[in-house]
Amino acid sequence: MKVMHIVGARPNFMKIAPIIVQMRKWPETFEQVLVHTGQHYDDNMSAAFFQDLELPRPDVYLGVGSGTHSGQTGRTLIALEPEMVRYAPDLVVVGGDVNSTLATALVCAKLGIRLAHIEAGLRSFDRSMPEEVNRIVTDQLSDFLFTTEASAERNLLHEGVDPKKIHFVGNVMIDSLVNALPKAKRSKVLAKLGLRRGEYGVVTLHRPSNVDDPDVLDEILAALEALSGSIGIIFPVHPRTRRQLDSRSRSTSKLQLIEPLGYLDFLKLTSNARFVLTDSGGLQEETTYLEIPCMTLRANTERPVTIEMGTNRLVPLRATDIERCARRVLGERTRIAKRSKPPLWDGRAARRIVEVLRSVAVPDATSRRRGSRRSPRSHFVAASEASPGFQNARVVKK
Ligand code: UD1
Repeated sequence: MKVMHIVGARPNFMKIAPIIVQMRKWPETFEQVLVHTGQHYDDNMSAAFFQDLELPRPDVYLGVGSGTHSGQTGRTLIALEPEMVRYAPDLVVVGGDVNSTLATALVCAKLGIRLAHIEAGLRSFDRSMPEEVNRIVTDQLSDFLFTTEASAERNLLHEGVDPKKIHFVGNVMIDSLVNALPKAKRSKVLAKLGLRRGEYGVVTLHRPSNVDDPDVLDEILAALEALSGSIGIIFPVHPRTRRQLDSRSRSTSKLQLIEPLGYLDFLKLTSNARFVLTDSGGLQEETTYLEIPCMTLRANTERPVTIEMGTNRLVPLRATDIERCARRVLGERTRIAKRSKPPLWDGRAARRIVEVLRSVAVPDATSRRRGSRRSPRSHFVAASEASPGFQNARVVKK
């Protein structure tokens, strides 16, 4: 079965890596092709993750870059279609809810190619979030919907998705985290930043609703400045946020604004933090697994299990509320009391996904019949040969 994986933005990389590794164990069943849309292209948003996650070089790099949401989605559609026609995959695998995910789903639907959606069914019920629209459309167009938590299955059934398409497999992002933790422990990032375990908070912000509105951003910054009087704050700044922050805030000794970190350094940073303050989706899940208190700067979350587990709480976007909530966390015990992890967040989600896909795999003959131009397995180099750059990818447009 010829499988095409599509990645584009930072949160995609850790979702696809464990699936690629599992599929490699069945070389007679799966022939894999990796396409990078280029939605994220800075070294520290993309190449650093390929290196840390030992992802193979992409076979194809589309170089779609930044722009308006429609422009970015449209450029991805146009660039992706000929690649799907050329490689003729039997199945396309895509993760999450970014614009590259939506574009992939649309191309598959137009070409009649089966689509597997990793992390299906999550819903914030807030359609002003671009990701919510991406999730709904992608799920409607998917043939295999792999879910991470019980709420996702309920949402999909409510939207009329055929229950036979839904597979509760757990969380592949946690697979990556479990694999990477031993390596992350060796990271020197804390020493480099002058930080000590449990004595700092980590902040990440990138949602347009938080960073593009100067009033909201000023509320958050006021809270961070107030908190930095009591505890060190380390803030790896996303490129979108950097644009807005430049005129507003500067690093101080207690509030450090730094460039985005790679996967292993960031994992070391979060796993030793006193708390995390974020608007990211993935970080709500990672902190739940790591049992680190997380405050989410949003009115809603599509990942309710993180709230149910007691690690995550939603915080109103007012300086006084953010500060009060963080001070309450600081007054609590260092870590969330040991509790069970969400069901199936055990590092084995990719195995379950690959089991499902093996059971429907048509032997290699299908790809050969469709005129595969390369011999099976020639696409992927071993992880040890993986390169941080994409020099050997066929660059379609840059
Ligand atoms: C995207 C995803 C979001 C995900 C986030 C993780 C969508 C709709 N949003 O948001 O769900 O949580 O990625 O980061 O797909 N930029 C750079 N270099 C890069 C990438 C981006 O400078 O490598 C800058 C550009 O100015 C760009 C802006 O960041 O316009 C936003 O990038 P974009 O991919 O449009 O969305 P994100 O905010 O990163």
